[in-house]
Amino acid sequence: MQIDVLTLFPEMFSGVLGTSIVGKAQQKGLVSFRLVNFREFSGNKHGQVDDMPYGGGGGMVLKAEPIFQAVESLVEPSAGETKEPAKRPRVILMCPQGQRYNQKLAEELAEEEHLIFICGHYEGYDERIREHLVTDEISIGDYVLTGGELASMVIIDSVVRLQPGALGNAQSAISDSYSTGLLEHPHYTRPAEFRGWTVPDILLSGHHENIEKWRLEEAVRRTLERRPDLLEADGISEEIKKIAKRLKEQL
Ligand code: ADE
Repeated sequence: MQIDVLTLFPEMFSGVLGTSIVGKAQQKGLVSFRLVNFREFSGNKHGQVDDMPYGGGGGMVLKAEPIFQAVESLVEPSAGETKEPAKRPRVILMCPQGQRYNQKLAEELAEEEHLIFICGHYEGYDERIREHLVTDEISIGDYVLTGGELASMVIIDSVVRLQPGALGNAQSAISDSYSTGLLEHPHYTRPAEFRGWTVPDILLSGHHENIEKWRLEEAVRRTLERRPDLLEADGISEEIKKIAKRLKEQL
């Protein structure tokens, strides 16, 4: 997978892209990153990429030209290569007005071959970027960041960990909170007793079937307590609905 990021602050990415699962995925060749400072495409000697808004008012607006040029530099076939890329990249604008990010969208983006993130600062983007360049506008939550960089790193992290081979234990992405539609069940590790607090007996029993039943029930209980809205979503199985009904009656 190819992931490109347009940013005025490429130095913000070095820790995140080089560390842990994302860093390892890069070393394994599962993902490759390019950071593009779109100031290089400003077309003027001052490197100016923003300008005053037409119609007046405060704040500056990111110009269309440098962003279009930077994206085009990443998708145009290089010299000698005449073939169009097999699949068009997803060009993702990071902004608070975008579609709210969630695990379903992470799974969808993880299937793509090429993602391009546009991270802006300042007051806003020239509307023609939205209308004629991007395929998606994404927000990571209902709050305003100083720029799209941190938001794009959140998305990159959640997409890279879904690449086959990125996680050590292939199972761990499957039982994640949200990919099952439920929050995760509680986990315990050694010692069996810590400061007088003990691990539930069933987890020490070695009875795998009962353990799986307990885990599913605890996942449903936790979801019911913390995020009951998730149990109303499409795709929740009849088995889970039945467990939820029984737990609710016990409340
Ligand atoms: N840029 C500023 N705030 C943002 C948010 N919440 N999500 C995505 N990009 C942003």
